[in-house]
Amino acid sequence: MKKIVFATNNRHKIEEISALLNECGSEVGEKFEILSLSDIGCTADIPETSETFSGNALQKAEYVKTHFDYDCFADDSGLEVRALGMAPGVHSARYAADEGFDHDSEANMDKLLSRMAKIQHREAQFRTVIVLLLDGQMFEFEGICKGTIATERMGSGGFGYDPIFVPEGHEESFAQMGMEAKNAISHRGKAVRQLVDFLKTL
Ligand code: IMP
Repeated sequence: MKKIVFATNNRHKIEEISALLNECGSEVGEKFEILSLSDIGCTADIPETSETFSGNALQKAEYVKTHFDYDCFADDSGLEVRALGMAPGVHSARYAADEGFDHDSEANMDKLLSRMAKIQHREAQFRTVIVLLLDGQMFEFEGICKGTIATERMGSGGFGYDPIFVPEGHEESFAQMGMEAKNAISHRGKAVRQLVDFLKTL
């Protein structure tokens, strides 16, 4: 079985991709074993200093390849709001850091809602980029979920900006959908399915 590291410590993301691999049929699930950073003893806080999703994902994957010599993939995601010049983008997790809040979803949503207070055009999209380094080659996968920014929080499920993001063709926010319904249309779900479809072809 080929071991591939997913450069994340987010258990939920590892479980999600392992489940998708197994859904593809036993031969794919049996071909690849997905390891987390803690599985390989990597406790470092891997730098993410790029101004693009793809740059950050590559930085994380290269770190694992260089320091641990495993084939590896990494993801980077964020919210892009058209009226704000595609901000917060790669800064999504720490959007309100300049107001003294570190990785604080509530503060991030407050800041975004106040920036959007007088804005009518509320188009936005979530984007995920996955970079895979496999057998000396690099492959990139991208998932986009278009939608709009609500004028106030709706629902309490999910994480991050879920309560204020309404996906295209829906009335409810990501936070009001079940996880399965969200994964079926989400940026991350789309990017992960592309990666899995690619692994199936190997
Ligand atoms: P990550 O690269 O997947 O860790 O995402 C970076 C940041 O983007 C998160 O901390 C959230 O603020 C935001 N984000 C990414 N995906 C989602 C999502 O599905 N829902 C809400 N917020 C998200």
